Amino acid sequence: MRDHLELLLGVVLVTGPALGISPCSFDHGVALYRFCNLTQVPHIPPTMKILLLSFNSIRTITPTSFPFLEQLQLLELGTQFTPLTIEKEAFRNLPNLSILDLGRSQISFLHPDAFQGLPHLVELRLFYCGLSDTVLKGGYFRNLDSLAHLDLSKNQIGSLHLHPSFRELNALKSIDFSLNQVASVCERELKPLQGKVLSFFSLASNNLYSRISVDWSKCMNPFKNMVLDTLDVSDNGWAVDTMRNFSNAINGSEIFSLVLSHHIMGSGFGFHNLKDPDQSTFAGLARSSLIKLDLSHGFIFSLNVRLFETLTELKVLNLAHNKINKIVEGAFYGLDRLQVLNLSHNLLGELYNSNFNGLPRVAYVDLRKNHIGIIQDQTFKSLGSLKTLDLRDNALETIHIIPSIPTIYLGGNKLVKLSHISLVADIIHLAENRLENLADLYFLLQVPHLQILILNQNRLSSCSPSPAPAESLSLEQLFLGENMLQLAWETGFCWDVFKGLPHLQFLYLNNNHLSFLPPGVFSGLAALRELYLNFNRLTSLSPGDLPAQLEFLDVSWNQLLAPDPAVFASLRAVDLRHNQFICACELSAFISWLNHTNATLRGAPADRYCMFPEAFAGVPLDSISTDGCDEEKAFQALKWSLFISVTVMLTLVLVTSLGAAKFRGVCFMCYKRAQRLLFGVSPQRLELDRYKYDAYLCFSSKDFEWVQSALLVRLDTQYSDQNRFSLCFEERDFVPGENHVVNIQDAVWSSRKIVCLVSRHFLRDGWCLEAFSYAQSRCLADLRSALIVVVVGSLSQYQLMKHRPLQGFIQKQQYLRWPEDMQDVEWFLNKLSREILKKEKKQKRGSSIPLQTVATIS
Ligand SMILES: *[C@@H]1O[C@H](CO)[C@@H](O)[C@H](O)[C@H]1NC(C)=O
Ligand SMILES: *[C@@H]1O[C@H](CO)[C@@H](O)[C@H](O)[C@H]1NC(C)=O
Ligand SMILES: *[C@@H]1O[C@H](CO)[C@@H](O)[C@H](O)[C@H]1NC(C)=O
Ligand SMILES: *[C@@H]1O[C@H](CO)[C@@H](O)[C@H](O)[C@H]1NC(C)=O
Ligand SMILES: *[C@@H]1O[C@H](CO)[C@@H](O)[C@H](O)[C@H]1NC(C)=O
Ligand SMILES: *[C@@H]1O[C@H](CO)[C@@H](O)[C@H](O)[C@H]1NC(C)=O
Ligand SMILES: *[C@@H]1O[C@H](CO)[C@@H](O)[C@H](O)[C@H]1NC(C)=O
Repeated sequence: MRDHLELLLGVVLVTGPALGISPCSFDHGVALYRFCNLTQVPHIPPTMKILLLSFNSIRTITPTSFPFLEQLQLLELGTQFTPLTIEKEAFRNLPNLSILDLGRSQISFLHPDAFQGLPHLVELRLFYCGLSDTVLKGGYFRNLDSLAHLDLSKNQIGSLHLHPSFRELNALKSIDFSLNQVASVCERELKPLQGKVLSFFSLASNNLYSRISVDWSKCMNPFKNMVLDTLDVSDNGWAVDTMRNFSNAINGSEIFSLVLSHHIMGSGFGFHNLKDPDQSTFAGLARSSLIKLDLSHGFIFSLNVRLFETLTELKVLNLAHNKINKIVEGAFYGLDRLQVLNLSHNLLGELYNSNFNGLPRVAYVDLRKNHIGIIQDQTFKSLGSLKTLDLRDNALETIHIIPSIPTIYLGGNKLVKLSHISLVADIIHLAENRLENLADLYFLLQVPHLQILILNQNRLSSCSPSPAPAESLSLEQLFLGENMLQLAWETGFCWDVFKGLPHLQFLYLNNNHLSFLPPGVFSGLAALRELYLNFNRLTSLSPGDLPAQLEFLDVSWNQLLAPDPAVFASLRAVDLRHNQFICACELSAFISWLNHTNATLRGAPADRYCMFPEAFAGVPLDSISTDGCDEEKAFQALKWSLFISVTVMLTLVLVTSLGAAKFRGVCFMCYKRAQRLLFGVSPQRLELDRYKYDAYLCFSSKDFEWVQSALLVRLDTQYSDQNRFSLCFEERDFVPGENHVVNIQDAVWSSRKIVCLVSRHFLRDGWCLEAFSYAQSRCLADLRSALIVVVVGSLSQYQLMKHRPLQGFIQKQQYLRWPEDMQDVEWFLNKLSREILKKEKKQKRGSSIPLQTVATIS
C-alpha cells in the first residue's frame, strides 16, 4: 500500500502542473497547499486523497481542524514554521489515513491520545519533532493496528523504555531511532518487541554504549527473541571492546544484515593506542545467521587471523574505507559462503599469494582505490568462483598475471605495456593507463569471448607492425578515445587494426588528434552502428570512409570544411556541431541536405556555423541562402573567384585535403621516406630558413641548472651531436653589454618558436614576464603558434592567472605541463620536440571575398 501511495504521490507531484493544479488549490483528489501562509487547515472537498500542508504556520490541530475526509490517505503536515500543538484525537476525521507526515515540525504539545482513531495508519513520520522519551513510555501509539513504519529519528529520546502497548502493534516492520541520545538499551526496555520480526531497526548515531559503561550481565540481550532483517548500529563510536561485548550480548538473535559503518575499531595508520579487531571481536555473532556485514568507514589497519571465523553464513563483507594495509594469512578463514568482498578505499600496497585463502565462493573482489603496486603470481588462484575483479585506481606498472575471469577492471593504473599471456574475459577495463603500443590493442582483440574493451585515456601512439590483423568475433564495444592514434597511423602502419571485428557495434575514436582516416580502415566493420570521431582534426570525409549500415556518427569538433552529403546518406542521426565550414557554393549541397534530411541532427542549429570566409564567421548554416548557386555559370565563376582570392591557407588546405583523400596512403609513405632521409642522415640539418634558432628558451636564471640537465642536454646541438635543435638562451647566446630588452627582442624574433618554462621563479622574475609579453606580441603580429608554454612544478591555474601577462594565454590557449613522473619525461620531450618542429600556420585570411551569391538571411 505504501508503495502504491508513494507512486501515486510521485505521479501527482511530477504531473501536477501539467494537470493544472496551481499552488494553494486542489484538483484530481490532490490538495496542494505548501508554502501558502496558512494558519489553519483550508476548506477542501471530501473527495481529496492527498493533502499537502507542509511549510505553513498551523499552530493547533484539534478534532475539528479537519473536515470529514473519508478518502484521505496521505496527510503531510511537516515543517510548520510555528510550534505545533496536537490535541486529543486530532485526526479522527481522517479515518482512512495511511501516511501521516509531521517531520520537521516542532511539536510543543502532543496529547497521549493524539493518534487515536487511525486504524489504517501504516506510516507515521515523526522525525525532527523535538520529542522526548515520553512518546515511547506514554502509550501514544496504542491501537495503531496497521502501523508498519515508525520514524522517530532526530529527536531527543534518551531511553527506549517502550510502553507495553507496543506488543500489540502486530504490523510493525521498521523503527528508526537514529540520531537520538539513547545511551544504552537493554533487554528489559525492548521487551514489548520480543517475538517480532522487524525488517529494519536503527540505533545509528546515538553514542550508544559508548558514553556510559554497561554492565552486560544485568543489561542482557536487548534483541532477545527478535528477528531483524537489518540492524543499524553505525556511528556510535564503538571500539573493539564495545563491539565484542555487544556481539556476545546479542548471542542468538537473528540478524541478517548488520550495519556497523563509521566505527572507530582499528589502530589506524601510524597509531597503536586502539586495537584492531581480532578473533574474539565478532565471535559472539556466530548464531545470528549474519548474511551481510558492513564494517566500512573505520580505522582497521590489519585484518587479523580468523577474524570472521564464526560468520559461516556471511555472503557480503564490506570493509571499504578503512586503513587496511595488512591481511594476515588466514584472515578470511571460515567465510565459506562469502560472495562479495569489498576492500576498496584502503591502504593495500601489495597482494600476496596467501591473502585470499579460504574464500571458495567469492565472485566479486573490489580492490579499487588502494595503492597496489605489485601482485604475487598466485594471488587469485585460490578464488575458484571469481567472476569480477576490480583493481581500478591503484599503482600497477606491470601485471604478469591476469586471471581468466569474465570482468576485469584495471583502469586508472600506470600500466605501460601488457605481458601477452593467454587470457579469457568478457569485459576488460583499462582506461587511464599509459599503454603506448598498438601491439597491446592487437593482443587484447584476440582475447577469446571479449565483448567490451575500454582503452580510453591511454597513450596509444606507436605501431610495431602486427603479424596478422587481430580477429575477434565477439567484440561489440571498443573505447579508444583520448589516445594518439594519429601518430600511429601517420607512420603508414596499423591501418588494419579494425579489419577483423565483424560484430563490433560501437567504436569510440574521439580525441585522437586524427587529421585523416586511413583508406578502408572501417571496411571490416560490418555491424558497426555508432562511430564517435568527435574532437579530432578531420577536414574531409569521403563516402567510402564509413561502414554502410552506420546509424550514428559523431564528427562534432572537427575541421570539416565542405562535407559531401552523400557521406551521411545512411545515417539516422549525426552530430556535426563545431566544424569549420566554408560558406561558399561548394557547401550548397550540404546546406540543402541539412535542411531536408530525415536524419536527426544532434545539437542546436547555432552550433553549425560558417568558419570561412571571415565575413561569415559564426553565422549559422541554417540562415545561409544558397540561391543562385544552382546555376552552372554562377558556380563556375564562384569557384574561380574562390581560387584566386581565397587565402593561401584555404587553398592549401583544400588542395591538400583533396589530395590526401585520394592519395593519402602514397603521400604518407613519401612523407615518411623524405623525413627519414632528412633526419636519418644528419639530425641537426633542420631547415632553419629565416630563423637563426629553432627555439628561444626563456626561463628564470635561478632555474638554469635544472633546465640544463632536463632540457638542454637532451635537445641542444651544442650539448650533444645526437640532439637536433639549435636553441637560444640568455646565459649563452645573449650579446654581453647589449641592452637586455634588445637582447630579448632579438631572441624572440630570430627563433622559430619561443618556449617559456613557467616556474615559481619565472613568475617572480620581471625579465621573464617581459620576455613572455614580447613573445606574445610577436604571436599577435605574426604567427599565432610561435609561443609554447611549459608549466613546471605544482602551479595551479589560479596561480598562473594572477599574473596579467599570462592570464590571456592561459585562458585561451593550451599549455604543456612538465611531467611529475620521471618515466614520462622521454615522452614529454618527444612531444615538445614535435611542437617545436610544427610549422606555423599562416593565419592571414583574405579580408573580403566577392561571394555575391551567398548571403545571410535572418
Ligand atoms: C506569504 O506571505 C509572504 C509575505 O507576507 C508573501 O510574500 C507571499 O506571497 C505569501 N504567499 C502566499 C501564497 O500567499
Ligand atoms: C481507503 O483507502 C484504501 C486504500 O488505502 C482505498 O482502497 C479505500 O477505497 C479507501 N476507503 C474509502 C472509504 O475511501
Ligand atoms: C566489556 O566487557 C568486559 C567484561 O564484561 C568488561 O570488563 C569491559 O569493561 C566491557 N567493555 C566495554 C567497553 O563495555
Ligand atoms: C550463546 O548461547 C549459546 C546457547 O545459549 C551458548 O552455548 C554460548 O556459549 C553463548 N555464546 C556466548 C558467546 O555467550
Ligand atoms: C564497495 O564499497 C564502495 C564504497 O562504499 C562502493 O562504492 C562500491 O560500490 C562497493 N563495491 C561493491 C562491489 O559493492
Ligand atoms: C529549407 O527548405 C524550405 C522548403 O523545404 C525552404 O523554404 C527554405 O528556404 C529552406 N531553407 C534554406 C536555408 O535553404
Ligand atoms: C523522409 O521521409 C519521408 C517520409 O517518410 C520520405 O518521403 C522522404 O523521401 C524522406 N527524405 C529523405 C531525404 O530521405
